[in-house]
Amino acid sequence: MLNSKPTLETLLNHRSVRKYTGEPISDEMLSAIFEAGRAVSTSSYLQAVSVIRVVDKTKRTSLRQISCDMTAEEYDKALSEGKRLGHGYVESCAEYLVFCMDAHRHHQLADVNTDWTEVTLIGAIDVALMAQNMLAAAESLGLGGVYIGSLRNDIRRAGEVLGLPKHVVPLFGLCLGHPDWEAKINQSQRPRLPLNVIVSTDTYQIPSDETLSAYNEEVKAYYASRGLDLDWKAQIGETFGGEVRPFVLDYLQSQGFAKR
Ligand SMILES: Cc1cc2nc3c(=O)[nH]c(=O)nc-3n(C[C@H](O)[C@H](O)[C@H](O)COP(=O)(O)O)c2cc1C
Repeated sequence: MLNSKPTLETLLNHRSVRKYTGEPISDEMLSAIFEAGRAVSTSSYLQAVSVIRVVDKTKRTSLRQISCDMTAEEYDKALSEGKRLGHGYVESCAEYLVFCMDAHRHHQLADVNTDWTEVTLIGAIDVALMAQNMLAAAESLGLGGVYIGSLRNDIRRAGEVLGLPKHVVPLFGLCLGHPDWEAKINQSQRPRLPLNVIVSTDTYQIPSDETLSAYNEEVKAYYASRGLDLDWKAQIGETFGGEVRPFVLDYLQSQGFAKR
């Protein structure tokens, strides 16, 4: 029988884990994690999710390349020069799972329209809920993980690597493994927005500029403690300041989603 930590303790201790010991995840743990995902709520009982477990080393390398935007040669060279690299954990984690929005089986079984934007919302919500059930289950078992949205850097290629048919779209990956707690990058929790910014009662409350600035300073101090010169405002700018993967819509539509 598996030992798992209580739910609240697990959730309140969350942090992304990007370095692992190399120990495999036992079959018993893995199947408990998958069952936790299978049990999740699902919009209109549609179950619009598929999970691809990526064990093939070549496929892992291809997916890591999509996430960190380097060829295998550039990656190895940077690694040998001791440079800090993003997304090596896609290859080094014990399990790499890719979560897909899936309307394929609905088309197999029935004559349906899944090109409404609403269907994309239904699918994306179902996928995220299942993934989070699985990450929470994994964390309750003492494992750690990190989501990989950078899979969408080349979403079409990711779909090709995984052999996805029409009506299936990869949304993000999830690395899982036994945390290497000795590694500095795994230790601290990132400060979140205060509850009075996230939660309003009855009517949406726009937070004051002072509250947001104070939070920005808190994030700056957090990054400074890790030797980084960064704050939340800069991070938002990096992500939303320019085009945000504009090719995603085209791919979604080519897979039969979000046409109207
Ligand atoms: C949908 C999603 C996609 C993410 N994609 C990546 C990613 O591609 N690479 C990465 O290192 N972290 C990724 N993360 C992890 C976030 O950076 C992390 O959750 C956030 O900075 C908060 O840190 P914490 O999880 O340690 O609290 C992703 C998280 C989510 C929810």
